[in-house]
Amino acid sequence: MVTFDNVSKAYDGQVAVAPTSLAIEARRTTVLIGPSGCGKSTLLRMVLGLVRPDSGRILIGGEELTSDNALRQRRGIGYVIQDGGLFPHLTAGENVTLLARHLGRERTEVAGRCAELAELARLPQAALARYPQELSGGQRQRVGIMRALMLDPWLLLLDEPLGALDPITRLELQDELKAIFARLRKTVVLVTHDMNEAAHFGDRIVLLRGGGIVQHGTLRDLLERPAEPYVRDFIRAQRSVLPEVPV
Ligand SMILES: Nc1ncnc2c1ncn2[C@@H]1O[C@H](COP(=O)(O)OP(=O)(O)OP(=O)(O)O)[C@@H](O)[C@H]1O
Ligand SMILES: [Mg+2]
Repeated sequence: MVTFDNVSKAYDGQVAVAPTSLAIEARRTTVLIGPSGCGKSTLLRMVLGLVRPDSGRILIGGEELTSDNALRQRRGIGYVIQDGGLFPHLTAGENVTLLARHLGRERTEVAGRCAELAELARLPQAALARYPQELSGGQRQRVGIMRALMLDPWLLLLDEPLGALDPITRLELQDELKAIFARLRKTVVLVTHDMNEAAHFGDRIVLLRGGGIVQHGTLRDLLERPAEPYVRDFIRAQRSVLPEVPV
């Protein structure tokens, strides 16, 4: 379980995250959604210890995140970076296994785990020998997800994992990812700016604007009990993908 306790962050006097409190429930998928620049990636980066909040605390499994325990906590977290972030000079397989090999994990164990993940993510084994630029966008995302899962983290943070894909591939991967989350029963925080995707994945949806939480609830809560007019406006702006939404 992850808790944001009144965390805030500003860059050069500009608010990236306003004082925010949020509890991420264990073994559920929580979706952070909101317009570009509302602080979604910054919140994820705080959990990873990559961004230090100016105020407030991050609690991971009840323990306050500090510079002393950040590296240890980081080991329990899988992270899919916005825009992929695969190393271009490493093959897909090397990208997936880099950290495990760095940690001195046994070679056959690492290879076995990699093969198992390729099956889970439905990446053809032959693609593991290719470099990122020799893969399709969808395959690259599958590799990014495999890399995040390699060390069997309890927490998965995915920053717009499907953002750069064509609609068909995106739909297909949405279904597959959801099945993977259900099967692995991990705690997942997924960032998107697409309400349709949020509805697909999210047991809990957190709608953000300008660095603050506008509403936190189920899709039904947002639809039926909008906290403020902005919630309706945000959903209405995407009504073409949510035809069942009354507008
Ligand atoms: N390292 C940084 N230095 C300066 N400003 C930053 C930095 N990181 C983020 N910001 C600013 O903080 C705000 C929040 O950024 P963040 O990346 O969290 O937004 P986001 O919700 O992830 O947006 P997007 O949907 O475009 O990815 C933005 O105004 C951004 O410009
Ligand atoms: Mg972002």
